[in-house]
Amino acid sequence: MGSQAAPDDVHITIETQQTALVIRVDKEKIATIVHLGPKLRNTAEYAAIPANGKRGEDYTGIYNSAYTSAGSRNLLEPAIQVTHADGNPSLDLKYVRHETQSIADGVVLTKVYLKDPQYPFEVTLFYKAYQKEDVIEQWSSIRHTEKKPVVLQKYASANLYIPAQNYYLTHFHGDWANEMNPSEVPLTEGIKILDSKLGTRADLFQPPSFLVSLNQPADEDRGEVIAGTLSWSGNFQLAFEVDPLHNLRIIPGINPYASAYTLAPGVEFTTPAFLFTYSNKGKGGASRSFHRWARKHRIPQGEGNRLTLLNNWEATYFDFNEEKLGALFKDGKKLGVDLFLLDDGWFGNKYPRNNDKTGLGDWQENVKKLPHGLGYLVKEAESAGIKFGIWLEPEMVSPKSELYEKHPDWVIKLPNRSEYYFRNQLVLDLSNPKVQDFVYGIVNDLLTKNPTLGYIKWDCNAVIYNAYSATIQNQSNLYVDYVQGLYKVLERLRTKYPTLPMMLCSGGGGRVDYGALKYFTEYWPSDNTDALERVFIQWNYSYFFPSIASCNHITDWGKQPIKFRTDVAMMGKIGYDIVVSKLTEPELQFSQQALKTYENIKNVIWKGDLFRLASPYTNDVASAIYVSESQDRAVWFTFLVKNRYKAGSTAPIKLNGLDPAKNYRIQELNVYPGASSAINKNTATYSGNYLMTIGFDPQVDTRRTSVVLEITDVK
Ligand code: GLA
Repeated sequence: MGSQAAPDDVHITIETQQTALVIRVDKEKIATIVHLGPKLRNTAEYAAIPANGKRGEDYTGIYNSAYTSAGSRNLLEPAIQVTHADGNPSLDLKYVRHETQSIADGVVLTKVYLKDPQYPFEVTLFYKAYQKEDVIEQWSSIRHTEKKPVVLQKYASANLYIPAQNYYLTHFHGDWANEMNPSEVPLTEGIKILDSKLGTRADLFQPPSFLVSLNQPADEDRGEVIAGTLSWSGNFQLAFEVDPLHNLRIIPGINPYASAYTLAPGVEFTTPAFLFTYSNKGKGGASRSFHRWARKHRIPQGEGNRLTLLNNWEATYFDFNEEKLGALFKDGKKLGVDLFLLDDGWFGNKYPRNNDKTGLGDWQENVKKLPHGLGYLVKEAESAGIKFGIWLEPEMVSPKSELYEKHPDWVIKLPNRSEYYFRNQLVLDLSNPKVQDFVYGIVNDLLTKNPTLGYIKWDCNAVIYNAYSATIQNQSNLYVDYVQGLYKVLERLRTKYPTLPMMLCSGGGGRVDYGALKYFTEYWPSDNTDALERVFIQWNYSYFFPSIASCNHITDWGKQPIKFRTDVAMMGKIGYDIVVSKLTEPELQFSQQALKTYENIKNVIWKGDLFRLASPYTNDVASAIYVSESQDRAVWFTFLVKNRYKAGSTAPIKLNGLDPAKNYRIQELNVYPGASSAINKNTATYSGNYLMTIGFDPQVDTRRTSVVLEITDVK
């Protein structure tokens, strides 16, 4: 039966500025969650929360366990399930103690120690509370000293518990070039699972990120929302269970699929972290919390600078030589970008990388295409006045490569089955420390030989087929050890090269997760760069990831004019993947000016607060504004997303995030050469109060399909 609050119960409170997660430990030493939501003014009052108040009586008293263990009296989805060394399949976790310490300015870490009373098996729950950002990072560590290994059948990162009247889950789905399509569904009794089994990446079909709106469907500015994302770049499982008492249990973690993990005595297993934020200001509030947190605490140089770049992928594909590249450097300089990024196709000699079937793994310059080597190109670019960066896909190998010939045992594949290829390639076995050294060595050598190399695009285009390692002892450890091996390599690289800008790409947006983003300054959202599609794709990533990390490139995909493409790309980190010499004179002039404008407004976009004003899913336009922290500047983007007669912004759009007491001037940016802006003829100023109550019409219609407005405080 559900335990009642008793005077000697222990209450562990994990608090941020706005939110509290409260764990109660009863006299039986059972740890349960009794509150997740707004924090109380008086901490002492957490003790008054009735243990069974909202949720009613349950048979086991542990429906709301802080970390549900399987095998004894549990009836619901467990967070952890183990088979002990002696074959006993049950786990009982009792509270031992907890400690709370401030580990950095505004960061408080709480550790809750749990232990099985019968076995030398311990779990520690970690809760890192980022005060100002209202984000909680939760993970667990598992350790035992049994006589032989223990098998971890399931080992979730967290186990949340939330009672509400109704639950609306927003999750995302898609495929290559079609990332991040949202679906909002009411959760009913039973379990909804979001997961992936791709091995090298979390996403192709579903990302490890979601929003749950409590009581009513999610709104941008109102209502209670829990937003969560798992920091793990491999197989994940997010389980949402509405229990028999209609309370929501959220259990996110590594996917237990084919991953029963054999854990040796004395070795600590640390789960990936689950990040979540509670907002009572709708989805907008939740996403702003994630953005602030990611910039300050997660993404390298999250509050620093980024380089604009010109990439040659869509301009040349595999077909280039030094001369062509030399011309592209000059074009990049003329355009006004900071860096030239050489994409796929520069390597391989025995099996030259002239298409996507050969050469991966042979990271030596192709002597026909680049007879003078990379060092020469770096210098050539520098003398043309721009930096040079390079594409790598270091975890992968082509079946036709010298690497595969030399080290067949470094490749993930089953011994007695035919090889299956994903984009004509196989995956290197990063669970093997020798392979980790090889991958580290590739990047380290490149950077040692070319110390001024300014940028790396790290790609990962394959999933794991035929999962089997030639060296690992327990095959079902492979999926986990792969990702941990990758993180080890990245950790070593980041320690040696802490400030190198690195883009994370995975056949499009396969690795947009905070596990990988600990090491990368930016991510590639999708290979789909059609600007109209990008309005939607970027819109959905923005619930979790800040604009400073979103690589938005202007390419020739789609039918949108260069102004529309540029305006869309400006909502993040701008880049180009076009043939500059094919631009018309007005297009070039527009682009050169746009880059100058971007220089001036980029910090508002990257570091400001994002408010979504009109959703492309329910309006003719998509509209969003970035407001600087001091509310003195804002950049406002509006795009036409429907093409019907009279489609457009027919009425004022209400702004958000401004200071009601300030007066603002509105100016249109990125006006195309020869066009004029009626908005720029208007010299009126408006109070923030007016703009947020009445609004302003950006005058978007079929003749003005994208409009960027700068809003400046008039002192
Ligand atoms: C992937 C990436 C592209 C490009 C190609 C190169 O598809 O997403 O941007 O780098 O690989 O092969």
